[in-house]
Amino acid sequence: MILIKEKREHIPYDPSPLEPITRATKKGFQVLDVPPAVYSILVDFYDRAKFKEENYPGKGTYSKQVSFLQDINQYKDKVDFIKATMLDLHEEWCGRMLKPAVVYGVRSYSANTIFDAHFDRQDTHHVASSITLGKDAPWNLNIQDHDNQWWGVDVEPGQMMMFESGCCMHGRLDEYQGTYFDNIYTHFTYAEPFTPYEG
Ligand SMILES: [Fe+2]
Repeated sequence: MILIKEKREHIPYDPSPLEPITRATKKGFQVLDVPPAVYSILVDFYDRAKFKEENYPGKGTYSKQVSFLQDINQYKDKVDFIKATMLDLHEEWCGRMLKPAVVYGVRSYSANTIFDAHFDRQDTHHVASSITLGKDAPWNLNIQDHDNQWWGVDVEPGQMMMFESGCCMHGRLDEYQGTYFDNIYTHFTYAEPFTPYEG
């Protein structure tokens, strides 16, 4: 696992005109092991032979390189189990009630990819996890924490980064030097009401 402080320009939180999302934790992100029951489902599902080129509205906004998808949403039982298990973990971490938004992936990024800095969508994507399943080179997920410190985080397969994706600016800002980098994402929405973290 790589976890390094980085010098990058501060990007303010300014998602107006939508209702601002308040911080829920002191730092904004945390690295941890994927729960074993979830990881075993993912490892069983993950198959690099089954990737198909990925396309979604607005793809070119964030990344110009080709990416691929092995869509776990064709297996509702797997997705339901992952949502339920990960929901508890995320609620415990952020101290708020959540509801599942979406499980997305497995996405495979290709050589030379840069994924521009962004906040996730403000209506549904408030807390997220990025779970790494396979790669042939390190590649940092860059995140700006609540103290405006940028970090570079690269986790090993079986680890994940949980983060406040709605209000912590994040991306993959350095060009990927390997040939594949495979990740799956879980997203959760704050269930009102919630109180801002004051620490
Ligand atoms: Fe994101």
